[in-house]
Amino acid sequence: MMKKYVLICAAFCIFFPGYVFATEYQHKLAAKDMEVFWSIDNEQIHVKLTAKTTGWVAIGFDPEKAMQGANIIIGAVKDGKVKIEDDYGNRKRAHSKDERLGGENHVLNPAGEEADGVTTISFSLALDSKDKWDKPINPEGTSRIMIAYGSGRDSFKTRHKYRGVYDINYSTGETKKIK
Ligand code: HEM
Repeated sequence: MMKKYVLICAAFCIFFPGYVFATEYQHKLAAKDMEVFWSIDNEQIHVKLTAKTTGWVAIGFDPEKAMQGANIIIGAVKDGKVKIEDDYGNRKRAHSKDERLGGENHVLNPAGEEADGVTTISFSLALDSKDKWDKPINPEGTSRIMIAYGSGRDSFKTRHKYRGVYDINYSTGETKKIK
């Protein structure tokens, strides 16, 4: 009986890999050549970002003026190695590592891969790390996020090819494009 169950699961994974991937997370936001997946529990948010780029991918939580005030998580995969940074939008058009600003890197479970011109990163964050350069994440109500990806170079200093701003509800999965 058990063997039959394992065989059915294996066949399902082979024939419907997209479905299995999509159900890893509770919610999904589809933007232009970029997708955001997330799940939220009482203590953490778990995020996966994927975009059609060989450069960096990023998400900014709770921006105030353009990029300013956002808790930005940015990552890239170079030579099979993933690098994910915990940044802060310290200016309207710039971001800096929390560590450089006097805070700490609070990215948990960093992972990622690059395949066929698509970069994927995943990580978790505490809903409230208490770091001055992070932002508490409120699971209820509407929250603003910004998403972006670079044009092909892995350097976090290069500008975006795509950027977007969305209002989302982390618990219900509702999303609304702002710009
Ligand atoms: C060093 C890297 C970066 C540079 C040099 C840069 C530069 C800029 C510049 C010049 C603008 C204004 C022009 C425009 O709207 O395109 C802008 C806007 C924007 N950037 Fe960046 N950016 C960088 C990284 C990021 C990252 C990592 C994110 C997201 C996580 C991001 C999200 C945005 C968004 C959402 C806007 C539009 C803001 C608005 O109009 O309200 N940027 N950026």
